[in-house]
Amino acid sequence: MNQMTYRVAVVGAGHNAEGHLKALSELRERLKPVAVADIRIDRAELLSKASGITAYTDYREMVLREKPDIVVITLPHHLHKEAAVFCAEAGCHVLLEKPMALNAQQCNDIIDAVRRSSVRLMVGHTQHFLAENLLAKKLIEDEAQRWGPLVMMNDTRHTAYYTTERPAWFLDKQRSGGGILFNLGSHSVDRIMWLGNAKIVKVRASLSHYGTAGDVEGSGVIFLENERGMPSTIVQSGYDGVPRNELELVFTKAMVKVIPGQGVWISRNGAYEQIPVPRAAAPFVLQFRELLASIEEEREPECSMIYSRDVIAVLEGIYRSHELKSEVAMAFEGE
Ligand SMILES: NC(=O)c1ccc[n+]([C@@H]2O[C@H](COP(=O)([O-])OP(=O)(O)OC[C@H]3O[C@@H](n4cnc5c(N)ncnc54)[C@H](O)[C@@H]3O)[C@@H](O)[C@H]2O)c1
Repeated sequence: MNQMTYRVAVVGAGHNAEGHLKALSELRERLKPVAVADIRIDRAELLSKASGITAYTDYREMVLREKPDIVVITLPHHLHKEAAVFCAEAGCHVLLEKPMALNAQQCNDIIDAVRRSSVRLMVGHTQHFLAENLLAKKLIEDEAQRWGPLVMMNDTRHTAYYTTERPAWFLDKQRSGGGILFNLGSHSVDRIMWLGNAKIVKVRASLSHYGTAGDVEGSGVIFLENERGMPSTIVQSGYDGVPRNELELVFTKAMVKVIPGQGVWISRNGAYEQIPVPRAAAPFVLQFRELLASIEEEREPECSMIYSRDVIAVLEGIYRSHELKSEVAMAFEGE
């Protein structure tokens, strides 16, 4: 049986767009890139020439002319809502980069538009498709009997956030929604919710603002509790120091250390021992495959709109908790 090939357009030709186009080139039998749009024509043309597709400066014109089946939206965060609503209303399925939008209200506007148009929208929470995280997820499910209950997760990320290569909008709260905790924190909140298989119901956050530019926070220590009462921490800083991106899972009879891109370790006789990570396709390839499956199987994708709105609700709770200097309970909306 001949399978349909979907035409794909990309909105935003910045740092992240290249990864999506590379993944599309690996999936060319099912997904055919046709056009890319960026207000900076030089950026759009750089990618369009490399992929043999058409460049636009106006994404609306691109969508109306090219009539793609799927649009990948990889724009600054404040533009996620308007672009996602426009593409959904134009009848396109959407892969929308994380974080879904600036706040839960914007997420609701996207959800309404997608439901009105009967298209699929998946949010690019790539953590679900990293080989090391996929192994951690499987270990949590398979080893529950042997390792006892998962009692906490500690998620640590240090990275130089104030580099010259970072586009200015990331450091401007109006356009980014927040600093390191909004951008990279969305990955940490996501992996804690996903691996813990439960919503976060409480947060307490303390942030600092010592960045060399912009008006966003540069570090944070966050305590989170999920609906089963399991606590987790997120510790992030974007100042000078030693880069680290590590998640530690503590069970009653074992511990697991996950370093995305590097490996997975499990505790044996009081020390960590590295274990093999099954090979997996590139995360952006797996992400496209999941979107495709959700379209063809007429089901919600992994990283659905509702799940991704919950991530945003937790991020909003983090900023509220910091302002109030107290614990905040999440108010989740229905399906
Ligand atoms: N999933 C991941 O691992 C991952 C990694 C990096 C970035 N991201 C996400 O991808 C998105 C983009 O990040 P980035 O690092 O590529 O940023 P970027 O600034 O490099 O790219 C954004 C591009 O959008 C363009 N743009 C701005 N306004 C526009 C408009 N109105 N119409 C068309 N183009 C417009 C800019 O000119 C720029 O080229 C963000 O949501 C970010 O959080 C995700």
